[in-house]
Amino acid sequence: MNVINEETRFLHATEMGLGAWQWGDRIQWGYGHGYGEREVHAAFQSALQKGIHFVDTAEAYGNGLSERLLGKYLKESEHPVLVATKYFPWPWRLSARSIPSALKGSLRRLGLERVDLYQIHWPSPILGPERMMAGLAECVKEGWTRCVGVSNFGQNRMIRSYSALAQSGIPLASNQVHFSMIRRAVEANGTLARCKELGIRMIAYSPLEKGLLTGKYSDENPPPGPRSQQYAEWLPKLAPLLKLMTGIGQDHGGKTNAQVALNWVICKGALPIPGAKKPAQVEENAGALGWRLSEDEIRRLDEHCEQVFHSGSH
Ligand SMILES: NC(=O)c1ccc[n+]([C@@H]2O[C@H](COP(=O)([O-])OP(=O)(O)OC[C@H]3O[C@@H](n4cnc5c(N)ncnc54)[C@H](OP(=O)(O)O)[C@@H]3O)[C@@H](O)[C@H]2O)c1
Repeated sequence: MNVINEETRFLHATEMGLGAWQWGDRIQWGYGHGYGEREVHAAFQSALQKGIHFVDTAEAYGNGLSERLLGKYLKESEHPVLVATKYFPWPWRLSARSIPSALKGSLRRLGLERVDLYQIHWPSPILGPERMMAGLAECVKEGWTRCVGVSNFGQNRMIRSYSALAQSGIPLASNQVHFSMIRRAVEANGTLARCKELGIRMIAYSPLEKGLLTGKYSDENPPPGPRSQQYAEWLPKLAPLLKLMTGIGQDHGGKTNAQVALNWVICKGALPIPGAKKPAQVEENAGALGWRLSEDEIRRLDEHCEQVFHSGSH
C-alpha cells in the first residue's frame, strides 16, 4: 500500500537537497583545511537562493557541529528550510528510549522545536527494526518530528520498519541510501522499485561519488584524504565515463558532469542530496534541475557503468 500522506508529501515534492556532512567534519572532508565556516555558510545561502530548501545533517557529522552550524544559519534565514537529521546507533545505545532522547539533543543543537525528517542513520547491531521504529514513533507522538525514515536499510529491514510503523499509523517516509551512476545496487536489487511502490522516498547519498563524477579527479589527480584509498579501484576507470557524460551534457546546452550525474539520479526517481563545501558547488549542482536526460542517454550511461564498474552489484 502506498502511504504518501500530508506529512510526507514534501519529500516527494522535493527534487534535490543539500548534504551537510561536510560542515564540521575533519576526518573525511578536512573541514578547516581549504574551507571552513565562511564557505559552508555561503553554501547554505546559495542553496536557498537557488530554491534548494531541504538540508540533510546528522548528530554524528562533525560530532554535532554540522547541526550547530545549521541551527545558527536557520536562525538568520528568512526562507523556510526543511531539516532532516539522523540518530546514530552507537553500541552503548541499548534501548528504543535513546531515540527520542537523541532527537532532543539534535533539536537543542539545531535550535528547533521540531525537525521535518528524523532518520535512523544505520541499522543497529543491538536494536532490531521493530524496536527502533517504536523509538521513532515516540518522536512523532511527541511532535518532535514531522515524519520519520531510515538510512542504509536493505529491503528486508526496510519492509520490517514500514510494517512496524504502520501498526502505529505512521508512514515510513524515506530510506537514505548510497545511489549514483556507478553505485546502483539499490536499483538492481529492487529496493528502489519497492520504495516507489510503498510511497517511501528514496534519498540518494553520495550522488557525485564524493566528487568523482564531477570530473575533477583522476588517477593522476586523486581526491585528498581517505577518498584516494576508498576510490583506488575506480579512479583509473573513470575517464571514458566522464567523456560520455560530457558529450551528453553538451547536447543539453553545456550541462556539466556534476549536473548530468545528479540529473541521472532524479530521472531514476530518487532525491539526490549532494554535499557541498562552497557556494560555487551548490550553484553548479542546482543546474541539475529543470531539465531531463532522455531515456536513450540514461540507457547509454547505464550500459557503460554496468560494463566498466559492474554498477549493478555495488
Ligand atoms: N546516510 C548515510 O550513511 C550517508 C553517507 C554519506 C553521505 N550522506 C549524506 O549525503 C550527502 C552527500 O553525500 P557525500 O557528501 O558523501 O558525497 P557527494 O554529494 O557525492 O559529494 C560531495 C563532495 O563532492 C565535491 N563536490 C560537490 N559538488 C561539487 C561540484 N559541483 N563540483 C566539484 N566538486 C563538487 C565536494 O568535495 P571536494 O570539493 O572535496 O571534492 C563535496 O564535498 C552528505 O553531505 C550527507 O548529508 C549520508
